[in-house]
Amino acid sequence: MNQEPLILALPKGRILKACLPLLKAADIIPEPEFHNEHSRLLRFKTNHPLLDIIRVRSFDVATFVAFGAAAIGICGSDVLMEFDYPDIYAPLDLGIGNCRLSVARPEKTQNEDLNDPARWSQIRIATKYPNLTRRYFAARGVQADIVNLHGAMELAPIMNLSSLIVDLVDTGSTLRANGLKEVETIAQISSRLIINRTALKTQSTRVNQIIDRFRQILHSSIQEGK
Ligand code: PRP
Repeated sequence: MNQEPLILALPKGRILKACLPLLKAADIIPEPEFHNEHSRLLRFKTNHPLLDIIRVRSFDVATFVAFGAAAIGICGSDVLMEFDYPDIYAPLDLGIGNCRLSVARPEKTQNEDLNDPARWSQIRIATKYPNLTRRYFAARGVQADIVNLHGAMELAPIMNLSSLIVDLVDTGSTLRANGLKEVETIAQISSRLIINRTALKTQSTRVNQIIDRFRQILHSSIQEGK
């Protein structure tokens, strides 16, 4: 039978670097062009004839997998929380891309209400996570008016585009450099192996082989860390 390759969707940027040792340990070796950051190629062959890799934005990894265009992906739990796609199964926390999703406000502000979260009722928030931000604030009775940005969120409060931001924080240096202060942590974030639920049924042997490979790597790294 002539089988189509399975597609593994990987996110561009920092998480991609963190994925490389995992891929190597899983004996998934992309073609050399994959490591060329200037390459315009988006789909890459691997050492397995029936496994190809695509390299897309982290938000798009979830979308490719949710719609079944890719059977497998690696993406942050922030993205999964934002979309909440029912067609994605996320069996493994890969322990990479660890950071937190936080609410931040300007370090210095004349607005007393902004300093006291108990007084927030309707507030303008810049974020690339409109759904989860709206949900998070609605759960405590606050109406979030969302300013939807795709990067450089930290500029928004400085430029009076919003009062708060919701963004990823790792070292905190981007917040500090832009005169912002973390006020609440919404969630701890890490990258997950994600699977399209239909592919899990229709291509169960191949998909489960890959899940098992990643599970074994995680298991042995926990053993080594003991
Ligand atoms: C992320 C995030 C913050 C920064 C936080 O951006 O959006 O801007 O990292 O890291 P820090 O706490 O260590 O300073 P990233 O560099 O991934 O780029 P992006 O703006 O394209 O999301």
